[in-house]
Amino acid sequence: MGMIRGELTFPGDKSISHRALMLAALCRGTSDIRNLSTGSDIQSTTDCLKACGIYINNAYAADAAGRPVMVRGGPFQNPKTELNCGNSGTSARLLMGMLAGQGLKAAFRGDFSLSRRPMNRVLDPLRQMGLKAESKNGYLPINIYNSTLKGINYRPPAASAQVKSALLLAALGARGKTTILEPVPTRNHTELMLKELGAEIQMDRGEISLLPLEGKLADFEINIPGDPSSAAFFAAAALIIPGSEIILKNVLANPTRSGFFVQLEKMGAKIEWLDKWQAGAEWTGNLKITAGALRSVQIDKNQIPQLIDELPILAVLATQAQGTTIIKGAEELRLKESDRLRGICSNLARLGAEIEEHENGFIIQGPTPLKGAAIETFGDHRLAMAFTVAGLICSEPVKLDNSSCVDISYPGFFSALKGVMN
Ligand code: S3P
Repeated sequence: MGMIRGELTFPGDKSISHRALMLAALCRGTSDIRNLSTGSDIQSTTDCLKACGIYINNAYAADAAGRPVMVRGGPFQNPKTELNCGNSGTSARLLMGMLAGQGLKAAFRGDFSLSRRPMNRVLDPLRQMGLKAESKNGYLPINIYNSTLKGINYRPPAASAQVKSALLLAALGARGKTTILEPVPTRNHTELMLKELGAEIQMDRGEISLLPLEGKLADFEINIPGDPSSAAFFAAAALIIPGSEIILKNVLANPTRSGFFVQLEKMGAKIEWLDKWQAGAEWTGNLKITAGALRSVQIDKNQIPQLIDELPILAVLATQAQGTTIIKGAEELRLKESDRLRGICSNLARLGAEIEEHENGFIIQGPTPLKGAAIETFGDHRLAMAFTVAGLICSEPVKLDNSSCVDISYPGFFSALKGVMN
């Protein structure tokens, strides 16, 4: 078996990329975005914003010379065509909030997967703010109508950064203050960017308050740190392949996103932040990962939001860790691009792992050797990448039913992996 060696950088964080595009659309002048995510989810947000009259020059996305994507702020217009959010829950939910706040009329749709994901989590509070909308029983397609919004106090029933961000973006165009009380902290990129751009926002132990914008935001320049959710697959590969060592460069180091790396340390992994520095409103850094033995870990509801997208790859690692890994409070995973609890458990069982599926999580007994099998990705990019990494330590080949779905977040995934395999 080869080893994982070398250094890697990653396309910009997907969550920050969506937010950078949307907030730039609310700015006075032209904003420059460097290292925008190359995933097709970001293309969905770009296309939707363009349909609302926003000028975006993304000819240079992922440009080797580092030329920025340029976004010229508003004015917005009612889109004449449907807004196709593709596979992207973040595009659908955040844009719904933002466009509602701008008083626009728009029709949203999405692909097969997105059309099965719950939208009432954003529609309910947006309706409380005054949005007039129609949906197919709480699912896409959804029409929103020109509405005037007012601020509300809201306690989301589930921990969701998408819901929080949708409401904050709506609140920018509402009358009066909006306050959101988070049950468990979720990724805070929207808040950090709004603060950096001078919006009237306050964050205090789970309570976030925002006043509407008086004018427009000032345009900005941003260099988006590498996506830690993409880096996680390479960290995992390096940990389980003996003799490996890799340096993951310029990886976003925001504590609301670093849960995976925190749990790796608890599992006894050799991981080291070589240095960290501030990049605008966020922290970023270089991470060194060295192969070594792992032990099991227990994770509950309060830690889930900080590693929600990394649970598929964490499950793969748990099959190689000594002891019983218990994941609880992860019911939100059933509502992602696919039912990820099912996808993780059914596929790991096929590979010969000892895994038990629960309503809100799973239990894995490790370590077990893995064998090859056909993998059902359900078109889910994170399952496809997690099982590709699992395949590196399987005794026979792993065959994905769909490998192109990695393009949703990381089109360069397979070539990057090839590039560090020695
Ligand atoms: C995201 C938030 C998370 C995450 C998703 C991106 C975001 O979803 O799973 O990949 O950019 O706000 P929830 O907030 O719905 O948990």
